[in-house]
Amino acid sequence: MEKAAKILAIMAIREVLKMGDPRLLAVSEPVREFGTPALESLLADMRDTMRDLNGAGLAAPQIGVNLRLVIFGMDYNPRYPDAAPVPYTVLINPTLTPIGEDMEEGWEGCLSVPGMRGVVPRYKHLRYTGVDADGLPIDRIVSGFHARVVQHEADHLDGILYPRRIADLTQFGFSDALFPGQDLADD
Ligand code: NI
Repeated sequence: MEKAAKILAIMAIREVLKMGDPRLLAVSEPVREFGTPALESLLADMRDTMRDLNGAGLAAPQIGVNLRLVIFGMDYNPRYPDAAPVPYTVLINPTLTPIGEDMEEGWEGCLSVPGMRGVVPRYKHLRYTGVDADGLPIDRIVSGFHARVVQHEADHLDGILYPRRIADLTQFGFSDALFPGQDLADD
């Protein structure tokens, strides 16, 4: 009990904006200062919020902060039971470069579009670069679900929510109707 109360006291779970809020449509600004207490505090809040909601990723604009900063990562995630683990990553000022033209379709959800899923085509292979919270470079080549998550999160920085990427709107709906009996709709 005591331990749980202590954890609650230091966690800061922020409100996640929902689709329809105009702040989710803005193009975010580059982060220019690194290693600052303000940045650390923002990142801690984002991590607490993402984990509280069982999200695979979260972009700063989703909590109303207009900066090019995303976090993502998961071990096993009940919202994505079939996905391979992705290492926890803080990615700031990202640049994404598709490798090849292979696209792959997959189900996506978003903490800003709660209770829904849609099939989104994404590049299968991808290089992404950027920096971490201390401004140190990140440069990775990834595939599959990892590549999907990065594309989804980076889209938030340009004001794009995944429903705009859905090619076939018959494959968009409420999680409990699409997948009856599966407890996917944890948001
Ligand atoms: Ni999202």
